[in-house]
Amino acid sequence: MQKTGLEQNIVHTGVTGLDELLGGGLPRGTTTILEGNPGTGKTTLGIQFLLEGARQYGESGIYITFEELPEQIYRDMSGFGWDLKELERQNKLRIICLEPDVLLDQMMRTDGLFEQLIREIDCKRVVIDSISLFRTLGGMQTDGREQIYSIRNIMRKFELTALFLREYGEWEGRSTPFENYVCDGIIRLSLREHLEKFRKRTVEILKMRGAHIVEGEHHYRFLSDGICILPALSMVEDKILNDGVERLSTGIPSLDDLLQGGLSKGSAFMVDSNSKANYKYLVTSMYAERLKQGDCVIFMLSGLTSVDVLEQTLTLFGASLEEAAREERVFFIDHYRRPVKPEFEKWMIYADRLSNEEYQKKVYESIYPYFRESSLKGRRWFIHYDLNTIISEHGREFVKRHFADEMARCRANGVTVLCQCNFTEIGLETASFLERASNGVIRTWVDGSYQYLQITKSPGGRMSAPHIVDNIRDRPYVRLI
Ligand SMILES: Nc1ncnc2c1ncn2[C@@H]1O[C@H](COP(=O)(O)OP(=O)(O)OP(=O)(O)O)[C@@H](O)[C@H]1O
Ligand SMILES: [Mg+2]
Repeated sequence: MQKTGLEQNIVHTGVTGLDELLGGGLPRGTTTILEGNPGTGKTTLGIQFLLEGARQYGESGIYITFEELPEQIYRDMSGFGWDLKELERQNKLRIICLEPDVLLDQMMRTDGLFEQLIREIDCKRVVIDSISLFRTLGGMQTDGREQIYSIRNIMRKFELTALFLREYGEWEGRSTPFENYVCDGIIRLSLREHLEKFRKRTVEILKMRGAHIVEGEHHYRFLSDGICILPALSMVEDKILNDGVERLSTGIPSLDDLLQGGLSKGSAFMVDSNSKANYKYLVTSMYAERLKQGDCVIFMLSGLTSVDVLEQTLTLFGASLEEAAREERVFFIDHYRRPVKPEFEKWMIYADRLSNEEYQKKVYESIYPYFRESSLKGRRWFIHYDLNTIISEHGREFVKRHFADEMARCRANGVTVLCQCNFTEIGLETASFLERASNGVIRTWVDGSYQYLQITKSPGGRMSAPHIVDNIRDRPYVRLI
């Protein structure tokens, strides 16, 4: 298969999850330190990198070990069902055990053993287990600087993508070792106390020149066929909801990216924000976008947001409430009976002084005829709920009793719902109930001098990393970084 230039420059490790963290794989010709305490899986991952290279990508590799005999490696790795000897027979792999100074000597010679070996199997990948021994070369305590530098240069010269294994901890507390500067990447495997019976194994990419990496610590596990890395913040995808569902843009491109295009039509999203966080622009952008697209929107007004205030903010985003009212595309639910301009009177649903049953009946009866008619015309509906208002006016029990039903009804009718609330204020129990009853949760909060936003639940099953909410001068006035 013909590869594009860009693909040729990326060496897929083939280790489940690792390429995702590396933004595709290791840049070709780079040298990466793979460090970890004893037993963290350095040898396993190193061998797996060569094995998958041979099996999946037709790239041969050499494993150079100073510490273990090949027999030991064949035996240890056979536990994962890997027949390394067979790969050697096919000239796709070489496992060689020699002294560090012999290796260096052979590498430095033109047409030395190393160069011959590379040509013989058309080698593309190299693993050295481990570079720690260079420190004690020739019985002297050196930092192995010259040796490591030379080897790295040889890797570059032959365009070999290399992993240099290193014991972690041996340089802790001392100044940063030389090879951290010389090598292009650093991957760290850690093993920590975790649950009573399990230890927490994590992998973290500390550096990778020329690659867009996924930051943070990610769990990995030993499976029967090798190491498997589980990138953080990805959960089991809900394929049914994710496949082919129309996405509604939020009007904020960076937020749409996190949501894989926008809010899925017919889903219920929570926006959890505390009072310090500025959620107004985030949610107004979403309604404005709906109005501009010709959708029908039901607004539940909060104590602070009257129709006038709403109209002003929507105008900032280029959406006209008047036009939407003329086209019979808006409703306002007001619990505070505030006066409005004549154009909006017909679309007001006053919900003050009503019992919970009366409230539900009134909302349903006011909206349903329009809903039925406009749905036939193919119009999309969007509802904004202010859950803080519902709870203060109707009580928590009302929400718990009716919310799930209401969401199910909306979903069944393809209505998209956005609920604004403050999880901390409404209490843990109600919050977790709401979270369960909705398809997605967008959290925004202030910490120190920054506002953050994170998708903590989505119909696609993905969580996002926390992003900083940055204010910009022009529409949509916010972007996520
Ligand atoms: N299926 C498994 N489940 C859990 N742990 C496993 C499994 N298979 C191997 N291991 C662990 O992996 C370790 C071996 O990993 P490996 O030899 O790759 O580590 P290493 O970092 O190279 O260690 P060293 O520093 O001793 O060379 C074993 O000590 C074992 O604890
Ligand atoms: Mg090892």
